[in-house]
Amino acid sequence: MSTPTFEVYLTPEELVEALRVDARAGLTASPKWLSPKWFYDARGSELFEQITQLPEYYPTRTERALLAECAPAIAELTSPEMLIELGSGSSEKTRLLLDAMKGSLHTYVPQDVSVTALESAACQIDAEFPGLGVVGVISDFTGSLHHLPSGGKRAVAFLGGTLGNLIPVERGEFLSGVSAVLDSGESLILGVGLVTDPAVLVPAYDDSAGVTAQFNLNVLSVLNKQLGADFPIEAFRHVALWDSENQWIEMRLEASRDLSVRIEDLDLEITFAKGEQLRTEISAKFTVDSISAELEAAGFAVQKVWTDDDQRFALLCADRV
Ligand code: AVJ
Repeated sequence: MSTPTFEVYLTPEELVEALRVDARAGLTASPKWLSPKWFYDARGSELFEQITQLPEYYPTRTERALLAECAPAIAELTSPEMLIELGSGSSEKTRLLLDAMKGSLHTYVPQDVSVTALESAACQIDAEFPGLGVVGVISDFTGSLHHLPSGGKRAVAFLGGTLGNLIPVERGEFLSGVSAVLDSGESLILGVGLVTDPAVLVPAYDDSAGVTAQFNLNVLSVLNKQLGADFPIEAFRHVALWDSENQWIEMRLEASRDLSVRIEDLDLEITFAKGEQLRTEISAKFTVDSISAELEAAGFAVQKVWTDDDQRFALLCADRV
């Protein structure tokens, strides 16, 4: 029996060091911010999987339905021998692509920052797709594109709308970076959320069961555990809002009283005034035209776009020019 192999470009020590650097920069800034990357410890990854099943959180099921419909067309357009998936998480929806690509594919390369999510996904896919090589890459997708393996014609999949987590300047750099590692004729398969009614968007990030609130607050537990901080988690409240100017959802944590936090490993003391908010995530939404323009600017030619009937989510297939 084959087993997946793993390549580690981010050790647990490097990950904590990156968290230290980020936390110091973001928590001493005004307004305070943290990167959404820090949500995904084992507990956070588990909470995200719960989010994907919430009635209000339409992106996952909308993208899955789109993939179920157009995976054969994507396979035909891209015919990859190697499928690299960035931010693969549970790889749950990817099975639809792997099935459709059976004719050409010899290797699947899931990449994620979460070791626990990656290991379990890689092992499951390995067992379900005999004959397919599985190489898990543990890294941070923004910093390690040059480590992506080569070998045969490749397609890079970046699903779920995760591109929206990057601020616009990072997004441009990231798309150019993907384009730079690909050869002409190789492909990008991209899933993005579309700008839609805020009455649909906001509840997707502020569900009635409070799972997204737990997911958001979990980042404070990550800081408490990883950096020896003493955030009083019960003193923070989950906030989700639609920023219509920037066209993104923003998640924040709001202090419900004046408080101070000691972050032992940074030898840092920070204060929050009552009502002060810490930005923990942006989740940008696009129009088909806006994302197509960004792809073209990064050196891709959009081959085909699929959207659901409600125009809430888009899958794009683009070729490296
Ligand atoms: C995993 C980044 C696609 O932005 O919709 C879900 C993360 N945050 N609910 C998203 C998330 C709050 C999700 N992505």
